Amino acid sequence: VAAISLLDLHESIRDPAMLSMNLLNDIATDHPEAVSFAAGRPFEDIFRTELIHDYLDAFTEYLANERSCSPEEIRRLLYQYGRTKGIIHEIVAEYLRIDEGIEVHPEAIVVTVGCQEAMFLVLRALRADERDAVLAVSPTYFGLNGAARLVDMPVVSVDSGPLGIDLDHLEHQIARTRDAGLRPRALYLVPDFSNPTGLSLSLDTRTRLLDIAQRERVLLLEDNPYGLFRADGGTRVPSLKALDTDQSVIHLGSFSKTGLPGARVGFVAADQQVSVDGRRTGVLADQLSLLKSNVTLNTSPIAQAVIGGKLVRHGRSMLRANQREIQIYSDSLRRVLGNLTRLFPDGSGVSWNTPAGGFFVVLTVPFTVDDKTLERSAREHGVIWTPMHHFYEGMSNSRQLRLSFSLLTPERIDTGLERLASFVSHEAAAGH
Ligand SMILES: Cc1ncc(COP(=O)(O)O)c(C=O)c1O
Repeated sequence: VAAISLLDLHESIRDPAMLSMNLLNDIATDHPEAVSFAAGRPFEDIFRTELIHDYLDAFTEYLANERSCSPEEIRRLLYQYGRTKGIIHEIVAEYLRIDEGIEVHPEAIVVTVGCQEAMFLVLRALRADERDAVLAVSPTYFGLNGAARLVDMPVVSVDSGPLGIDLDHLEHQIARTRDAGLRPRALYLVPDFSNPTGLSLSLDTRTRLLDIAQRERVLLLEDNPYGLFRADGGTRVPSLKALDTDQSVIHLGSFSKTGLPGARVGFVAADQQVSVDGRRTGVLADQLSLLKSNVTLNTSPIAQAVIGGKLVRHGRSMLRANQREIQIYSDSLRRVLGNLTRLFPDGSGVSWNTPAGGFFVVLTVPFTVDDKTLERSAREHGVIWTPMHHFYEGMSNSRQLRLSFSLLTPERIDTGLERLASFVSHEAAAGH
């Protein structure tokens, strides 16, 4: 057969954002010795293979003791194709109540192949026709843009500003989108320790955002992979879903950072009523489940068992399960901020934000950073980071870079930031 023209394949494949992601990966592969502040991956030194076995045991014990399953039922549950909405929905509902103060019925939860599938399913459902658009706080996590492209859904940017979302700009963008004949269906955001900015929304901002969502009839897609990683041990601001009294919020969850990313388990809590001719037919989760049955059929029961078992072992609380991790990330964040203060004194022209938790810090430098700058940083100084322009639609002249520290040991953080300081002074001196 003749070669298939790339132009005859879906345009998401040719998306420049996809190419730039590959480029970032290539730079990391070409410089394996460099200290990488690029990957937002969980810390590896505490992985224990035997824990995976223990979690599986915990889950089967739970099935036998708490759900009265017979050995045959347990075998079938683990071996067979399974319920599309998942087999750990009850445990996830308890986890949401215990850790997040969120009350949702287990039937309103769909367990997905990572949060990424949840984003895809929600956007697929909301993109009913060519008028439907999604708003997203910008800078935006790549995965949302990727999912939107797969369903041909335009993404309308809303400025983050220093508070995590600029609410005036949100209202402006909703009005503009409507003026253009489009329907803004939802706003995507990461309210806690956002990727990529590290910013969190205050309680006041959350309340005002919920008011706007309710008034404008725009759903909120709350993505919450980092919420438990509060650095100072202080109390968390409630999630949007915990504050939601009107079913305005679809809550997207990921167990990649709190469970283990190898399991690829996430979920969506979607308790919005769906009606036909004014008659209620169920909740949005049921429709998402129909879509899921055409994408992945069901999330691997084995993977769900591992995550379910981890939750069971720790009283349904990922907060409890992650005490060590929370301490490690908290120490790492403090170490990054301490190093930055020491290496970039006042007058250096370098500044950064001070997130209260999570995996990311944003650094502003006195020169433009792009992929070429990154390549020089990797080759000549042995340090890798992510240029912030990748998180903005159509931006190239950013002076900001994202530092992700979650994967690094204290020693690597120190070495990496020393290298970063030498890179910054070279670039500034060279006047790039
Ligand atoms: C904001 C955000 N959402 C979702 C994800 C991906 O989640 P999952 O691994 O569950 O697909 C990430 C991973 O980095 C993320 O930063």
